[in-house]
Amino acid sequence: MFYKLGLIGYPIEHSLSPWIHMKLLEETNLTGSYMLYEFPSDSFQNRLESLKMENLVGFNVTVPYKQKIIHYLDSLDETAKLVGAVNTVYNKNGSWVGYNTDGIGYTRALYNTYPNFYKNKENRILIIGAGGAARGIFFALAQAGFKNIDITNRTLSHAENVAKISADINTNLYSLKDVTKYLAHYDLIIQTTSVGMKPNVIETAISLDDIRPSTIVSDIVYQPYTTQLLHDAQNMGAQLLHGHLMLLYQAQYAFEIWTKQSVSVEKLMEQLKQKLE
Ligand code: ATR
Repeated sequence: MFYKLGLIGYPIEHSLSPWIHMKLLEETNLTGSYMLYEFPSDSFQNRLESLKMENLVGFNVTVPYKQKIIHYLDSLDETAKLVGAVNTVYNKNGSWVGYNTDGIGYTRALYNTYPNFYKNKENRILIIGAGGAARGIFFALAQAGFKNIDITNRTLSHAENVAKISADINTNLYSLKDVTKYLAHYDLIIQTTSVGMKPNVIETAISLDDIRPSTIVSDIVYQPYTTQLLHDAQNMGAQLLHGHLMLLYQAQYAFEIWTKQSVSVEKLMEQLKQKLE
């Protein structure tokens, strides 16, 4: 079997996904390809119809098509439905099934890096942001059994919508300014917005005035490798979880969906870190 894979989005020329997935194919001794399909928005529909003819095993979807693609899919898995965005498509006997890998990618990164944290479901978690990534991560943490998950966001109504995903969780909502008073309360702080991403590398979504050294500070931004928020956390002696790990575990999950093979991403961690530094 030849695993014909790819990515659709615009622009995508700097994507790390071809490198990651070619490494995963190598690791599992499978043959395949991972092509970039850069679709300008005015020809999205035509290009997608041509893509159907290419009979890919699966593909990833990135900005700006994670919502638009849904209209062209045959079905969605539960997470993609809840999140309202698809970043992975599997061609199941000619029918396109949409998935969202943000949540599972994140919880796998957390579990593999901090297994002891993961065992204690009473740990207090703060999510910064209320976009698609935050929705996926909130849902996956709730599914994993965590009970205390608060949200801070620039627009509080968006945070309210995220909190509605799970009725089992008692979620406190804070503005970005107010939350700084309560940071010492949290065991894990997860930054899910694009704030701090290259080229705006000195920006942070919140200021980390008062955190405990035992707190894990996590940023899903992976360019730069260590964001300003993670630098600040490091200076306060906190534990860190870098964004490239979520990227790798998302790729691992997508690869499993497409090939039905489990694959280790550990060997790639250091190499990816070096590419990003
Ligand atoms: P994604 O799907 O990648 O998570 P998104 O849906 O565009 O992206 O979500 C963006 C998130 O980043 C939101 O929480 C957004 O805040 P709002 O809900 O108030 O829009 C947050 N965000 C984006 N730019 C921001 C900025 N400059 N400062 C603070 N928050 C920002």
